[in-house]
Amino acid sequence: MISTSKQIWKISYTVYILFVFITLSSTTEASPTYRGSYCNDTTKYEPNSTLSININVLLNSLTTNSSQQQDGYYMTIMGFGTTNAVNGLFLCRGDINSSTCEKCVTDAAQQIKRRCNNQTEAVIWYEECMLRYTNKYFKFYSIEPRLNLKDGKTVSGVDFKLFQNSVNDLLKKVAVMAAHSTTAKKFATGEVEITGTSLTVYGLGQCVTDLTSSQCEMCLGMAIGTLAGCCGGEEGASVMLASCIVRYQLYPFYNVTSSSSSGNLLF
Ligand SMILES: *[C@@H]1O[C@H](CO)[C@@H](O)[C@H](O)[C@H]1NC(C)=O
Ligand SMILES: *[C@@H]1O[C@H](CO)[C@@H](O)[C@H](O)[C@H]1NC(C)=O
Ligand SMILES: *[C@@H]1O[C@H](CO)[C@@H](O)[C@H](O)[C@H]1NC(C)=O
Ligand SMILES: *[C@@H]1O[C@H](CO)[C@@H](O)[C@H](O)[C@H]1NC(C)=O
Ligand SMILES: *[C@@H]1O[C@H](CO)[C@@H](O)[C@H](O)[C@H]1NC(C)=O
Ligand SMILES: *[C@@H]1O[C@H](CO)[C@@H](O)[C@H](O)[C@H]1NC(C)=O
Repeated sequence: MISTSKQIWKISYTVYILFVFITLSSTTEASPTYRGSYCNDTTKYEPNSTLSININVLLNSLTTNSSQQQDGYYMTIMGFGTTNAVNGLFLCRGDINSSTCEKCVTDAAQQIKRRCNNQTEAVIWYEECMLRYTNKYFKFYSIEPRLNLKDGKTVSGVDFKLFQNSVNDLLKKVAVMAAHSTTAKKFATGEVEITGTSLTVYGLGQCVTDLTSSQCEMCLGMAIGTLAGCCGGEEGASVMLASCIVRYQLYPFYNVTSSSSSGNLLF
């Protein structure tokens, strides 16, 4: 009996060590978190067409460039000036490092091909980055295509209206800061304590880098405007558009340290 329980202990110990090892190696190899994608089904291209080749070259170029872009952003056009021109870009979240960015963009380029096979226009969103391409163009103020995500938990212990107003005010301030950022990235984060509660709301806003300040403000404004319809009273929610993203949570979900250089604002 004693030797049996010893053996069992040994086995559990080995399993435990294996478990720890697997957990450790998987956290260092953290894979990017997929959130959703948009494929425009109205237009498809023929395999082996010039457009198809341009899209493939474009996606390869985005992947290649992801290891070299310190700002986490790259936009390019293939077949410029022809009828088969495609433009595309990737944008990494402003607070992540370049190795995480590269991993995310590499995955995004593969997934967008798989999920939006033969589509002339597509966007894919991850927690860490987004990637898009089109043979037309994305309007910076459009709320389509869009991805609204919510936690699925309603906030409690706080007046609904007060909570909604606090979230809105915070995100609007973050939007202005992101749009008028003094760094290359159009990215900002901020936090606010809700009056009379122990709740702190953390917010993040970011635009595609090549938008002007006013375009960025407009894009983020449109994104924030969709929150009431989808996510009123939610503990956390995100809006992802083709040209900007916003998110808020009741916990710090971004890297406060790396955000603070571009300004994690306390309101
Ligand atoms: C999909 O593509 C068609 C044709 O280009 C366009 O009219 C339509 O607006 C696109 N859909 C979205 C959601 O952008
Ligand atoms: C989509 O692409 C696949 C190959 O990747 C091809 O077999 C298929 O015929 C294409 N579909 C359309 C509608 O073009
Ligand atoms: C596309 O090109 C590949 C390689 O050149 C070829 O094997 C394949 O048959 C072509 N497909 C079509 C639908 O033309
Ligand atoms: C981006 O990629 C293309 C080829 O895919 C390459 O020619 C170009 O030099 C790269 N640019 C940067 C800034 O890395
Ligand atoms: C980049 O960030 C990830 C996730 O926070 C971390 O695991 C990784 O070690 C970082 N890499 C570098 C080179 O700092
Ligand atoms: C947060 O950002 C700082 C500064 O860029 C960096 O040193 C740190 O490793 C980052 N932390 C995580 C968890 O990525």
